[in-house]
Amino acid sequence: MPRISFLAASFFAATAVAQVPGPLTPEVHPPITSYKCTTAGGCKAVQSSVVLDSNYRWLHNVDGYTNCVTTGFNKEFCPDVETCAKTCALEGVDYASYGIRTSGDALTLNIYKTDPVTNVTSLSSPRVYLLADDNTYEHFKLLNQEFSFDVDVSQVPCGINGALYFSEMNDKGDANELNTAGAKYGTGYCDAQCPKQNFIKGVANLNNTYGACCQEMDIWEANRAAAAFTPHPCNTTQVFACEGTQCGNGDERYSGVCDKDGCDFNAYRNGNKAYYSPGANYTVDTSKKFTVVTQFVTTDGTSAGALKEIRRLYVQDGKVIQNSKVSVPGLAADDSITDAYCSAQKKVFGGVDHHAQLGGLKTMGEAIGRGMVLALSIWDDAGSYMGWLDQDPYPADADPSKPGVGRGPCPTTGGRPEELIRQFPDAKVVFSNIRSGDIGSTFGGNATVVRRAVELRV
Ligand SMILES: *[C@@H]1O[C@H](CO)[C@@H](O)[C@H](O)[C@H]1NC(C)=O
Ligand SMILES: *[C@@H]1O[C@H](CO)[C@@H](O)[C@H](O)[C@H]1NC(C)=O
Ligand SMILES: *[C@@H]1O[C@H](CO)[C@@H](O)[C@H](O)[C@H]1NC(C)=O
Ligand SMILES: *[C@@H]1O[C@H](CO)[C@@H](O)[C@H](O)[C@H]1NC(C)=O
Ligand SMILES: *[C@@H]1O[C@H](CO)[C@@H](O)[C@H](O)[C@H]1NC(C)=O
Repeated sequence: MPRISFLAASFFAATAVAQVPGPLTPEVHPPITSYKCTTAGGCKAVQSSVVLDSNYRWLHNVDGYTNCVTTGFNKEFCPDVETCAKTCALEGVDYASYGIRTSGDALTLNIYKTDPVTNVTSLSSPRVYLLADDNTYEHFKLLNQEFSFDVDVSQVPCGINGALYFSEMNDKGDANELNTAGAKYGTGYCDAQCPKQNFIKGVANLNNTYGACCQEMDIWEANRAAAAFTPHPCNTTQVFACEGTQCGNGDERYSGVCDKDGCDFNAYRNGNKAYYSPGANYTVDTSKKFTVVTQFVTTDGTSAGALKEIRRLYVQDGKVIQNSKVSVPGLAADDSITDAYCSAQKKVFGGVDHHAQLGGLKTMGEAIGRGMVLALSIWDDAGSYMGWLDQDPYPADADPSKPGVGRGPCPTTGGRPEELIRQFPDAKVVFSNIRSGDIGSTFGGNATVVRRAVELRV
């Protein structure tokens, strides 16, 4: 989906990834409990923490208080990439001031923050990653495995996206001789939109030439009105610094190394408008918390097999809810993502099948097999107002009778960031109870019982 690069969309374009730890504010990661599950042993609590992405941090000369990047890199501190990496320091942050709170196994992300002195509310749009230890991102390897979490989207309105997804980032945040800050300071971001980062693998992007591309598996892009899950394969492995056509910008969208559109499964778009929204008359009632289960099924039923299917279930009020089935003339009644689903959807909805061109689920599965980093964020969309996720029709001037143009029930006049901040200053998403493990082990009867027993002990 056309996720707008954070750097282009947000106020913090002036700050950047820095490369040495700063001396002023200690970095203290908010703790969070997650769970590892097996069929035989149930779920066990794991104590870990989250880290804020480096782009949100103050980047200044290590001996002073001057920003290393304003509209461009400071030429005094950054005459070349080596000097830049040694001179520019990333500071620790006060997480609460960014709208980030953890409690037990729950993470709350507020999209806006209010300055305690001026009382001015502004966009924070935090993005955090799950750490295994203070210097290492948790690397999830989910082939032939299952991933679950609980989510409360009741305070995520149309136009805002509370997202949980995997990117094939390096587990040390590309720490190297140029980047001694590493995962502890949230470095090394990449995704399938190939965002222009200020540093890529520790190398300053002095002329803004490069983008940070990597495979991306969107488990959850959603608000209370609409939701999608979407693989975005790339024909590259790990973090790839793209240049020119490889980045797939503008007219070159389908010539780049990553599938920027991805292959989405969105119940509303797939013809089931009664599946997901606030209210007891919807199959999944988004006015209350529910569990989202995603299963990565392989060809041979082992973690060595190729990815062939991504399955989805929900659990709400103790009831397992099957995913919505496609109900669109010309399409099979699928309830999961397979290569056949993706190619048929591209034919009927229209659009380039870049997903298949870049290797489809097999390629996506290779990244999932190598291991991916869990990112959690909340954001608005100054470029397309989140219309690709929740509006009908999208684009606003499309023929509403055409299949696939309705993405969700939100009005095409909504999603404007300057209105959202006034109308929903308290907008927030709560992710909790993050679990991974054998298929069938993370939800339902036994998983829940064992998890509660473990919780009492922690
Ligand atoms: C901040 O704004 C809120 C909401 O408008 C108001 O209730 C509060 O009194 C203000 N506080 C300060 C310190 O100005
Ligand atoms: C950036 O551009 C300047 C001027 O065109 C050039 O001298 C320099 O080598 C470039 N630096 C990098 C890292 O590409
Ligand atoms: C990756 O895909 C792009 C098109 O999206 C193509 O131009 C490029 O040659 C491919 N690279 C490899 C290594 O296959
Ligand atoms: C559910 O109820 C609400 C409020 O009465 C209504 O606006 C909405 O159209 C209903 N949705 C469905 C799918 O019946
Ligand atoms: C729970 O586990 C027990 C023993 O491992 C098994 O016999 C039972 O079928 C399981 N129940 C459910 C609901 O999975």
